[in-house]
Amino acid sequence: MRIISETVTMSHEISAILEKNGGRAADSGLSLPFLGSMVYLAGDGDHVDIGTLYGASAIMAALVKKKFNLKGTVYAIDPYDPATRQIQAAAQPGMAGKLSATPEEFLKNAEEFDVRDRIKLIQKKSYPWPEELKDNVFASAYIDGDHNGDATWNDFLSLRGRVTHYIGCDNYEEEYSDVVSAMVKAMDSEDWFLFYKNITFLALRRLVPPRGAGGQMSVLQL
Ligand SMILES: C[S@@+](CC[C@H](N)C(=O)[O-])C[C@H]1O[C@@H](n2cnc3c(N)ncnc32)[C@H](O)[C@@H]1O
Repeated sequence: MRIISETVTMSHEISAILEKNGGRAADSGLSLPFLGSMVYLAGDGDHVDIGTLYGASAIMAALVKKKFNLKGTVYAIDPYDPATRQIQAAAQPGMAGKLSATPEEFLKNAEEFDVRDRIKLIQKKSYPWPEELKDNVFASAYIDGDHNGDATWNDFLSLRGRVTHYIGCDNYEEEYSDVVSAMVKAMDSEDWFLFYKNITFLALRRLVPPRGAGGQMSVLQL
């Protein structure tokens, strides 16, 4: 995947502003350039962010759309529910710090980047899939919500027929074995395949038609 250089600067800006406002970007924003580049390559169309916290990943997607004049709204799905947070923090000792984001903090951060009008918050869990998004189609998606049990796999099942280009995912790493097994299964499914992997970020792409059918990817997509 081509890394869009502007997304590196954007990642630093997002991490700095979120921290100034009392929040944080997950893993200091390590995956944000990869996510931003994936959103850029997906082109026009809506994006869905599962697990938004203080907004780093959703703001990155919205900033990329703004900077490169790409059409589309960013839908941010997060219940902002203290009970959900507690379960996550308890299951993953590394996640114990700073999970107490609120919708107000997220939306204030989005305002500071002047992308508030490009973002719609769905304050719900991603599974079962929110009723208000049942007919939506997205160019790209990012899975970074509940990392435990079947949650990542269920997110993939919700997205696989609704996303036209790329599904990204964070925390594909040893410490999150449920995320890893879900993504291994997803990249071995009949309609999605591995597109890109770097550090803890992984992206899937929809299967392209076989070469003989004239369906190979163009270098601009890589
Ligand atoms: C690792 S943080 C997300 C970090 C964020 N993407 C970023 O770039 O900084 C995980 C978030 O997922 C949310 N979450 C937990 N369970 C969820 C679920 N079932 N559906 C959607 N979001 C969920 C939590 O409330 C928390 O805000």
